[in-house]
Amino acid sequence: MKALVLAGGKGTRLRPLTYTRAKQLIPVANKPILFYGLEAIRDAGVEEIGVIVGDTREEVMAALGDGSRFGVRLTYIHQPDPLGLAHAVWTAREFLGDEPFIMFLGDNLIQHGVIRLVEEFNALSVDALILLKAVENPQSFGVAELAADGRILGLEEKPKQPKSNLALVGVYLFSPAIHEMIRTLKPSPRGELEITDAIQALVTTGHPVHSHIHEGWWLDTGKKDDMLEANRVVLDEIQTELLGSLDSESRVVGRVKIGAGSELVRTSVRGPVVIGEGCRLVDTFVGPYTSISSGVQITSAEVEHSIILDDSRIDAPGQRIEDSLIGRNVRVSRAAARPAALRLLLGDDSDVCLT
Ligand code: G1P
Repeated sequence: MKALVLAGGKGTRLRPLTYTRAKQLIPVANKPILFYGLEAIRDAGVEEIGVIVGDTREEVMAALGDGSRFGVRLTYIHQPDPLGLAHAVWTAREFLGDEPFIMFLGDNLIQHGVIRLVEEFNALSVDALILLKAVENPQSFGVAELAADGRILGLEEKPKQPKSNLALVGVYLFSPAIHEMIRTLKPSPRGELEITDAIQALVTTGHPVHSHIHEGWWLDTGKKDDMLEANRVVLDEIQTELLGSLDSESRVVGRVKIGAGSELVRTSVRGPVVIGEGCRLVDTFVGPYTSISSGVQITSAEVEHSIILDDSRIDAPGQRIEDSLIGRNVRVSRAAARPAALRLLLGDDSDVCLT
């Protein structure tokens, strides 16, 4: 079995962060989202992985290399335009050959990995095994309608009137029969070749397609709130590891990871929290569900349920920051002098909420 990981796309919903970074490389609990998927595939025993890349290919290739650091072999496949998931499979046709494969969307995170799913696919000998999850907003996803016996009746991509609340999770297993179906597809209303339509074609032409309802959490990290939610659930599973230094007035409570070279001075951290390497936190409170990347400096602030990326600096006495996603190299400070006005330099598509 091979794997196909999708790491193209423009990440428009995560702007402005995605102006300068591939969405799949934005970290959750200080690890790029894409790494979780690669590790899950590797843990399921699949080592030959094709990575679909687009405009952000240089950054993705620099981050993943040849895959040896994950114990896998990577082949990069360039999809010049984001013309859909089925188009991505088509682009990877030569790499995939006539082998079955697992397809994994690089901005999806799923709990418990894919070992059981791969085993189930091998045991069933079906042409597709899809993963479903009940969601509150099915119209934002591919949606499956099941018969009482679990058989798939039909699939629709982002239906206005969904026939169920079962969304297609971005992890799929396919036999080479999928390629024949993709050949017959027409672009969808959003102008893409949809993998959902290709699976529907398998169903229509009588190919065996099975579904599996995913029991753990599943996160599609498309937007800020999804990122914070992903951060929350991943941090819920971290273990304590204190490599940095704490002065006698600093306190760490709960599960907290602090990287080498980080320094806490008169600072309280209430986990789950992860702090990267070379950070300096002074007179600060870090509350639950916060991820602070390497090189961040925070003075006299309170931060909770937030993600702060590399080398940002927050110097904001008395200020409490919550539910925030702060990019790399950002400065947040409080002016000492009057007039007490906000002075902002915000990139395009920034989002500020004042109290
Ligand atoms: C894609 C699929 C959709 C699936 C979703 C999961 O949507 O088309 O069927 O439910 O991924 O993340 P997209 O991210 O392209 O909007």
